[in-house]
Amino acid sequence: MLSLHEYESRIDRPVMMKIPEFNRENRLKHILFSSQMDKMMIDMLCRTALKIKHISSTKPGSDYLLSLLSHKRAMLYFTQVSTRTFMSFMAASQILGIKCNEIRDQNLSSEFKGESPLDSIRMFSSYFDVIIMRSKTPNFAEACAYLMNDLDQFNQRSVPIINAGAGADEHPTQALLDIFTLQRTFGFTSKKDSSKWNYYRELKKNHPDLTKGLNDKVYGFCGDLRRGRTVRSLVNLLSLYENISVAFISPDSEDFRFPEEEIKRLEHRGVTVYEYFSLDEAIDKVDMLYMTRIQKEYDKPDQSKNYDELIGEFILTPERAERLKTYCPILHPFPRNEEIPFEIDSNPRAMYFRQARNGMWVRAALIAHLFDVESQIANYYQDKFSEYHNYNMEAI
Ligand code: NCD
Repeated sequence: MLSLHEYESRIDRPVMMKIPEFNRENRLKHILFSSQMDKMMIDMLCRTALKIKHISSTKPGSDYLLSLLSHKRAMLYFTQVSTRTFMSFMAASQILGIKCNEIRDQNLSSEFKGESPLDSIRMFSSYFDVIIMRSKTPNFAEACAYLMNDLDQFNQRSVPIINAGAGADEHPTQALLDIFTLQRTFGFTSKKDSSKWNYYRELKKNHPDLTKGLNDKVYGFCGDLRRGRTVRSLVNLLSLYENISVAFISPDSEDFRFPEEEIKRLEHRGVTVYEYFSLDEAIDKVDMLYMTRIQKEYDKPDQSKNYDELIGEFILTPERAERLKTYCPILHPFPRNEEIPFEIDSNPRAMYFRQARNGMWVRAALIAHLFDVESQIANYYQDKFSEYHNYNMEAI
């Protein structure tokens, strides 16, 4: 039986060694790690996402998008819990006309009869054109990508694999949608912008050093920084930008602090890292605040912790939120627990619902990239939309 064991030696290599196997020239072949993307690729994907967003706002535009990949089928293999990522991948596929099918419970597939999950994946690749997956098994998506590459070598059918967040490792598509959200926020354009009123100019009065874009910022991350995969992937992408600082805000405990060896790696790449063990201390220093929940599902059975006392210090109360810089976006990958109370939702800094919607556009852009239809999208946009929406493309 084909087992994960076969791929152990390939999985154990440093990520940088693996990347050429998952990319094809300057394009992505599978999507597994955030490090597969450089700044140029990120910008290109974000531009496509924005174009898809604008095009789909009209009926002829959305009909055009629907026609692009109507001959393709996607398998959403989500055997680890997910609501947003699952839905957003499904919506993204539907925007491009892709038909979707899903497996959400291993017990309802032949894996229950003892089939190797890798056999299941190969079987799906016979019926579908892309496999989007979230599994509890560490490195499973990566092993599937090796399987596909091996099949390709022997001229057998092979399809792209997308890692939709696996184990505690990585969540590359979440990181990309977070970057897209930051690009749009730090473009500092506003619908109200006109020659008379300019949001950025207004902000500069109180923040003379503020620059547009992702460079020169302090990015705050608060909560369960050890077990949250979204933080790991996002800081990795942020490290590509210039003059970046990261403020890790968590309880002073090995259970929650961002891992030390990863802090060293970030510093090595030129990122300035601060650690705070209190949200109060950090709150007025950050240009973005990324909240996360305590990942209780990863608790070991003997680790019965009472988090309530600990958490109080790390809740974004309305009083704390008022101390944030006026332009500081509040992000959260969701689902949230008590760390962001509902009252914060009406705070103009709250960006998490927009962030989730951005995920749909970004994932549609990634799928468009995998199937090489970005230039068709760009041409359609150029023909029908560019003159109306130029103001918004400037942000990226
Ligand atoms: C995150 C995840 O699953 O890693 N959610 C998501 O994908 N939007 C964060 C979380 O579960 O806390």
